[in-house]
Amino acid sequence: MSKQVWLNGELIPTEKATVSVFDHGLLYGDGVFEGIRAYNGQIFKLDSHLKRLYASAAAIRLEIPYEVDKLRQAVRDTLKANDRTDAYIRLCVTRGFGSLGLNPFLCKRATVFIIADDIKMFPSELYELGMEVIIAKTIRNPPASLSPAIKSMNYLNNILAKIEAIDAGVLEAIMLNIDGNVTEGSSENLFIVRNNTHGNPELTTPPVSAGVLEGITLSTVAQLATDAGIPISRNNLKPADLFNANEIFLTGTAAEIIPVTKIDAKPIGSGSPGPITQQLAKAYHHLVTTNPTED
Ligand SMILES: Cc1ncc(COP(=O)(O)O)c(C=O)c1O
Repeated sequence: MSKQVWLNGELIPTEKATVSVFDHGLLYGDGVFEGIRAYNGQIFKLDSHLKRLYASAAAIRLEIPYEVDKLRQAVRDTLKANDRTDAYIRLCVTRGFGSLGLNPFLCKRATVFIIADDIKMFPSELYELGMEVIIAKTIRNPPASLSPAIKSMNYLNNILAKIEAIDAGVLEAIMLNIDGNVTEGSSENLFIVRNNTHGNPELTTPPVSAGVLEGITLSTVAQLATDAGIPISRNNLKPADLFNANEIFLTGTAAEIIPVTKIDAKPIGSGSPGPITQQLAKAYHHLVTTNPTED
């Protein structure tokens, strides 16, 4: 069976799933998207992803030409049409076909497509051994320039940081904001673990105001930590906080939970994935593979 893509209301073979060169998604990166995962036939947090998609679209005044129930069913249909129980699903809404000028309101109708495929963000062994990253020189877009709440199809800011990482011989970069505070990876949120004054581990992740996407995996991990009695706070972090952390990990739908064990060639904590990272990664894996709901 050939792979099927859902495009503007229809499931069609991948090779026929094309969009116009006049689509503003292509011409200007004018669009929004979600990356979603299905595990064992369940689409994890589908409703949260749809909610964020419609919020991103509203923030750029892009009308999604389908009711949410229709798109929810379309995501399920795409998974089924590709005969998959496990997949990475990419749901994109572009501004659509328009003229060569920037005016988004000359585009008559948004283009919507859904792909169900695989994604491998990082080699499997790095999940066991930990990953080395750098701190990028490329500064994360300030929220006043582009709200990080908008999951837009324009990732050049993040791609420039990713290129720095690859040039440095590693696979990921942590981005700072204009105030020198830590934001996130090129497509993952960041958590640090450090011991509080009582010697107990505590999690910290930067606040949205630092310029981070409010990750769905971040929220899930925060809930898992709370359930496990691990306190969590949203506070600004400086690079020094990273170097002094006991553990660091990144979270994202595609990346899941990956330990960071070296930054700019300096080991973090013991230099190996720490116990809290391992505990949360195990709890996350258990949740996504057994969670019967899609909320
Ligand atoms: C910039 C950025 N931060 C964080 C994340 C993680 O978000 P989520 O956990 O919702 O996948 C993503 C995901 O694509 C991202 O692009």
